[in-house]
Amino acid sequence: MARERWPTRLIFLFAAVTSAIGLGNVWRFPYLAYKYGGGAFLLPYLIALVVAGIPLLILEFALGQKLQKGAVDALASIKKKFSGIGWLALFVGFIVISYYAVVMGWALIYFFTSIGLQWSGDAKAYFFNNVLQLSDSINVVGNIVPAVFIALVICWIMIYLSVWKGTKSVSKVVSWTVPIALILFIALIIRSVTLEGSLAGLSFYLTPNFSALFDTEVWIAAFSQIFFSLSVGFGVMITYASFNKQTNDIAKNAIIVGISDTLFSIFVGFIVFGTLGFMSTAQNVPIDQVVASGPSLAFVIFPKALSLMPFATLFSMIFFLILVVIAYDSAFSLVEAINTVVVEKTKIRREYIALVVCILGFLAGLIFATNSGLYFLDIVDHFMNSYALITVGILECIAVGWVFGAERLRAYVNKVSEIKIGVWWDYAIKYIIPLALSIIVALQLKAELVENYGGYPDWAIVVGWVAVLAPVVISFLVPQKRVKISIS
Ligand code: PHE
Repeated sequence: MARERWPTRLIFLFAAVTSAIGLGNVWRFPYLAYKYGGGAFLLPYLIALVVAGIPLLILEFALGQKLQKGAVDALASIKKKFSGIGWLALFVGFIVISYYAVVMGWALIYFFTSIGLQWSGDAKAYFFNNVLQLSDSINVVGNIVPAVFIALVICWIMIYLSVWKGTKSVSKVVSWTVPIALILFIALIIRSVTLEGSLAGLSFYLTPNFSALFDTEVWIAAFSQIFFSLSVGFGVMITYASFNKQTNDIAKNAIIVGISDTLFSIFVGFIVFGTLGFMSTAQNVPIDQVVASGPSLAFVIFPKALSLMPFATLFSMIFFLILVVIAYDSAFSLVEAINTVVVEKTKIRREYIALVVCILGFLAGLIFATNSGLYFLDIVDHFMNSYALITVGILECIAVGWVFGAERLRAYVNKVSEIKIGVWWDYAIKYIIPLALSIIVALQLKAELVENYGGYPDWAIVVGWVAVLAPVVISFLVPQKRVKISIS
């Protein structure tokens, strides 16, 4: 059977960029930057982009394109046991999408409640009390919140329909949302950086803090955010590149995706920190105490910023519609990566597999739609990204760097690419990335064994660890057993 192909090189690039740009840029990046002190985060983040983000993007593009296989089979063709790395990547992606769709659901709720700007009194109270109906602590799990539930159902139906109909419909939607998104974001940037007090926010954001470079927590957040934001370590980019012809350019595409994604995040930062500066001046509190730092940040700051715009209702509707759309094509890419592998393995029709994946993803996400959903989301997001995703990154480097051969893959990249990659890439893949990531994970682990992440109770931390370890165990033990059985 002939492999599916992207119609043109540009469409592949578009698909990769729209997978990368998503809630990671608008929701996750700002709250990490705020949590870790603005300028203290930006510098490690940019270093992580250059040291690990773009090199791994090159690795994933090259692997998929050279081997013409989805994540699991591509890694398995290096060595049979490495199929576990591919499964792990997909599993991590599955857990991520289960809460990602919930955040997309919040955006959908804001789209509808833009009519009449229902949060205009107090954006913070509106988010916690009206949208999330958040309980006082994680110990009070409560019930499923009806509005979030309905939004989640709608989001999953949207995702299912697009996976079912294939990539064509998505590229159509995206081709008109990207220009609108750009105009809107520029308008928002101009508005927020001209607010009174915004300069204080911007200087908090842009002034580097070199002492933060000694904090492992900042580093782990920076590296995992780079992976999350570039959709690296989830099998997505391997899959997308596998639909390319083997002669497609790799290096340039990786650089374009890496840079456009990062620029987008940085611009979003201007809106967020400009508004934070304004709020800090208006309320007369220091910037780092204006709002709670955490996954709620974007849903307090953007509504606030939007309510200060002229034609606020209209702008809000457009903004949240765009947020839904950019979340949607990222979510879509994750489901597509899982789908591709299962179709390759089972030969069951893709619409059935997509249906099962979407239903399971929806069910897994219900916990995040409860009254204590935000707490669980915070924990699972932290553990998946800080531990599981970083592990995938390390393992991919080992598999390619040491077993497949970094030189060999780089020779292929250079054969097809206009920009030639130097020998530094081999060192990055073989030594620097795996070593650096292992050290920061170990240090972080040590710190978190002493003090629970986010001050959550022990049982909640156990939930986080189960979310990390279950995929690892299943990915490596179960398939290996099956291989043994089939051999005997
Ligand atoms: N990169 C996407 C974002 O930043 C999230 C994502 C992760 C999408 C993994 C696909 C795979 O929002």
